[in-house]
Amino acid sequence: MRMARRTSTRSSRTHARSVSDDFLEFTSSVHFDHRLWRYDIAGSIAHANALADAGVLTQKELRRTVTGLRRIAKELSEGRLELDPKLEDVHMNVESLLTSLIGGTGAKLHTGRSRNDQVALDMRLISREMILDTVSEILALQDCILDKAKESGDSLLPGYTHLQHAQPVLLSHHLLAHFWRLDRDIERLIECYGRTNISPLGAGALAGTTFDLNRLLVAEMLGMEGVTANSMDAVSDRDFVAELAFDLALIMVHLTSLCEELILWASQEFGFVILPAGLAGGSSMMPQKRNPDIAELVRGKSGRAVGHLIAVLTLLKSLPLAYNRDLQEDKENLFDASDTVEVSLRALTTFLAEIEFDRERMGKAAEVGLMTATDLADFLASKGIPFRKAHSAIRKISIESGGDERRFAELASDAASSLLGYKSELPDGFLSPMAAVERRNVEGGTSAKAVKDQIKKAKRSIQRTRDSIASMRTQCAKVHELVRT
Ligand code: ARG
Repeated sequence: MRMARRTSTRSSRTHARSVSDDFLEFTSSVHFDHRLWRYDIAGSIAHANALADAGVLTQKELRRTVTGLRRIAKELSEGRLELDPKLEDVHMNVESLLTSLIGGTGAKLHTGRSRNDQVALDMRLISREMILDTVSEILALQDCILDKAKESGDSLLPGYTHLQHAQPVLLSHHLLAHFWRLDRDIERLIECYGRTNISPLGAGALAGTTFDLNRLLVAEMLGMEGVTANSMDAVSDRDFVAELAFDLALIMVHLTSLCEELILWASQEFGFVILPAGLAGGSSMMPQKRNPDIAELVRGKSGRAVGHLIAVLTLLKSLPLAYNRDLQEDKENLFDASDTVEVSLRALTTFLAEIEFDRERMGKAAEVGLMTATDLADFLASKGIPFRKAHSAIRKISIESGGDERRFAELASDAASSLLGYKSELPDGFLSPMAAVERRNVEGGTSAKAVKDQIKKAKRSIQRTRDSIASMRTQCAKVHELVRT
């Protein structure tokens, strides 16, 4: 689709611009709401059907209207029509294109409708599709994480708290932690879909309409699951936008965690990750550089999504009922947040798929230091020593060992014997990281068996998501079927 070029304010001032030109340039939303045209036309087709049903349009007029709207859709999609910024917004543009195409009948379309309920509908229709597109991108990343987790077998990794060595874990377990965050992101999006997929048409400007419009027919034609209960609420709230903006911001925040780890792990100090040559950035000065640019950019882009959420919440704050023009500001924020999440998810999935883990180095790192000190305290507690007492004894020998794992192992048997009052033989290999991992066999723990169960659960969850979005896709497809010529 093409749009007439906007002239810059400064240059046009010199060419006798009028105050109303400035007003229009400031208030016009065409340069961003052109993105709504498909939804606007589908909504108009559904509305025209309701008008025919109410006797406002004859069957012939309905046919003319629908054919005209479809032709406009075709020409817009082929870039053969231009939207005019002087006509303020996408809604006025579509209506004016229709009227020039089919004449007086086109001027009947806005009966019983206002741009206020129209724009609320368009935003709901585009949002529900953004939700599903985001879910699909998340699914691709989840698939990739799952593959990496399976590939990593029984590779070990130091687990951290406060970015200090804490307890050893399986690499697969660590990777899957990111899977479940994304899984909840999907859950949130799907719940948001339900609240979004409700038709506001029939609310009119704010109080409803004097025409006997079949609101359910409109909702059904658009694949929506019901109609709004209060016309004033319908045109004034954008809580579904705020909710989606939050979901998108949280996805980005989740991605930053994964990115941050990949960036750290790719550093020479960690050396846990080998960056894919084709997907690493270089330096214009330092020939040796291989930088994790993709992960850094995703981390950096999170600020946009968080910023857009704050902007949406702030624009909604203190708005009196019902429609206010402030609401026009929801669009750029939501659109950019959605685009940002989409490109970020895609880039990160490609990046992660190509990444190699230096499993040997990770495994060695898991042997360094006193990462099995908790296991020793647990061992004593399992023999009846109160955990606090065991903790304090092991803390003492941790300090005494100076952080050296061999010295710690020597001190460990002595400490155990003195606390237990008999010569305690710590089982062979008790302090090895793998033994520590295997002992954490609780559901959701890091043992090989628990992780295997977790992988099964993750696969089931992916399948459940795929099943549940299939019917939502069918609902969204209705818009495109209505618009198709
Ligand atoms: N461009 C407007 C928006 O995005 C459409 C509704 C305009 N309504 C009005 N009464 N001026 O919210």
